[in-house]
Amino acid sequence: MVQVLQQINNEFDENLIVSNSSFDDASVYKLNDDIALVTTIDFFPPIVDDPYNYGQIAAANAFSDIYAMGATPISALNIVGFPNDISENILVEILRGGSDKAKEAGVVISGGHTIKDKEPKYGLSVTGIIKPGEEITNSNAKINDDIILTKPIGTGIITAAHINKSVNQPILNSAIDSMKKLNKDASSIMKTVGVNACTDITGFGLLGHLYNLCKSSNVAANINFNSVPFLNGVFDLVKTNSFPGGSKSNFEFLNDFVKWGNIIDDHGKLLLCDAQTSGGLLITLDKSRSQELINKLNSLGIHNAAIIGEVSTLTNDSKYISVEG
Ligand code: CO
Ligand code: CO
Ligand code: CO
Repeated sequence: MVQVLQQINNEFDENLIVSNSSFDDASVYKLNDDIALVTTIDFFPPIVDDPYNYGQIAAANAFSDIYAMGATPISALNIVGFPNDISENILVEILRGGSDKAKEAGVVISGGHTIKDKEPKYGLSVTGIIKPGEEITNSNAKINDDIILTKPIGTGIITAAHINKSVNQPILNSAIDSMKKLNKDASSIMKTVGVNACTDITGFGLLGHLYNLCKSSNVAANINFNSVPFLNGVFDLVKTNSFPGGSKSNFEFLNDFVKWGNIIDDHGKLLLCDAQTSGGLLITLDKSRSQELINKLNSLGIHNAAIIGEVSTLTNDSKYISVEG
């Protein structure tokens, strides 16, 4: 979808200091030397049964693009599609989930818009603020930076397997907990430590978002498969091949740009491309500070955070990513 949006040339405005031309998570519009608006929008159909959980996940996911820029979300608008033939109580629960997550984030939901739709959809348009120049983009990764991921991978395959009734409740619950978790603390910690680049992991999967970051920064990345954190249960689910369509199309697109080590089998490749919802932050920073970042993340309960690889020089074969086992 990003590729489609890129074909439309929006009018140039010198105050638009980050636009979607760099595949970044949110746009940044400078109002004056002290303040810039950071804006983003995200919405999707239900991925879990419980409407309250769905509302929380959709809100955490929408706020995440603001956190990935190192910015502070301030206000948001609900975007709702809802069918005539489902009880309105369900919609109340979805909105209550979004509202409670907004309260946790310190964001005010100031309004919204609802349309009739064949299937429910929910999300938010979010406005954040930052001091111009302090935004953390995906285009400033430096060679030899460590690459850190703050949440485990696997929400795509787990929620898809859940639709086919082939996942047990504890595994589903751990995926739901991970998706509900705000990237707020991870974002504020990365700002105190000081990092070079950041993005969040959503529908394009770990390698898809890493690819965008590498392309925007004109660098390559080496990933160590064994260092990547995965949700419990995913290695059993891959055997049932219940990957969602998005994960498979991510893999097909990315295959040309990835050097796969011999040890990585097809299931491992698909997992690294698994379409995530409300995934973690993907951060690059100077090696001298990476352990400090991990320690601070751990001390605030972000225990899955891990150094998963490092930034390297891009060669002219357009292989932006190498994965070793
Ligand atoms: Co994003
Ligand atoms: Co987004
Ligand atoms: Co309206």
